[in-house]
Amino acid sequence: MPEHDLLYPDPYLPPTFAGDPRTPPPRRLRRRDDLDDAGPTAGVLDAALGDDQRWSTWSAVEKGQRGPEPRPDWVVTADAAVDTELGVLKTGKEADVFLVERAVPDDAAQRTLLAAKRYRDLDHRAFRRDTVYTEDRRVRRTRDRRALDRKSRYGRQVAAGQWAAAEFAALGELWSAGAPVPYPVQIDGNEILMEFVGTSDGVAHEAAPRLARTRPDPDLLASWWDQLRDGMAVLARLGYAHGDLSPYNVLADGDRLVIIDLPQVVDLVANPFGTELLLRDCRTMSAWFAARGLETDADELFALLLAEAW
Ligand SMILES: Nc1ncnc2c1ncn2[C@@H]1O[C@H](COP(=O)(O)OP(=O)(O)OP(=O)(O)O)[C@@H](O)[C@H]1O
Ligand SMILES: [Mg+2]
Repeated sequence: MPEHDLLYPDPYLPPTFAGDPRTPPPRRLRRRDDLDDAGPTAGVLDAALGDDQRWSTWSAVEKGQRGPEPRPDWVVTADAAVDTELGVLKTGKEADVFLVERAVPDDAAQRTLLAAKRYRDLDHRAFRRDTVYTEDRRVRRTRDRRALDRKSRYGRQVAAGQWAAAEFAALGELWSAGAPVPYPVQIDGNEILMEFVGTSDGVAHEAAPRLARTRPDPDLLASWWDQLRDGMAVLARLGYAHGDLSPYNVLADGDRLVIIDLPQVVDLVANPFGTELLLRDCRTMSAWFAARGLETDADELFALLLAEAW
């Protein structure tokens, strides 16, 4: 958080945070089921937050950290909203993705599901190592060593934040241009909150499967290919290639394809490997569709996208 934030509290912050933006996360005492009659008084609500809950972080982030306008009407912006972690969608080496509900208690109209992608900074592991050394006097470490560790830890934190920022920016630009990507709701440090791609009946939630796991019939396969080409064309027109496109980074949301995982989005002009990466994206996707029985031509797709880019 920049220093001026500490000196001049953000007027957008809700009352519970307004006094001091450094206020630690709310106490987490009870589970969501106990929320029922929690009134609007901050103290009461704090005590009602469960282990897996926090105040909505919407008001705590600055305007530039929120998704592009016009904002979809499902985005919950109320100060009274609570974020509840409902489970893990996927853990990975660099990031974990969680399912989060953002909702105003007792207001069914203000309830939404989000995917929270959290980039890892590996801070925790390094911290534990530090503690072990500090406690063992025979293995005292030099200041330099400690400083170096602090620096690398800091470096990893910064790197995680930069990946998140890169992906958030890409999602916003692509969404605004009409590409089939999840709407990015906000970014807060290492965490991106975005549209949850999947279905829910209010009780059971199901994330859309990765394309790799699907077995579409020929009509759907053909439709998906068209959607993929059109989606890639939007990126190309903006001068981008996905850079890591694969059937694992495309979700099948019913009949609709959604492209995800965009931290490494490649600038076709500035990046010397731009066109190479675009060709690789074309080949990877084309191969998957071909294996499912659609006649595809990676080179043709590549040529079409290059024409869009220039
Ligand atoms: N918006 C979303 N809605 C639903 N599920 C999502 C969403 N974003 C990500 N996921 C799930 O989380 C998985 C990992 O997301 P993503 O590919 O962005 O992260 P990653 O760190 O690259 O993970 P991986 O190494 O598995 O590719 C996706 O394959 C998908 O199953
Ligand atoms: Mg991925």
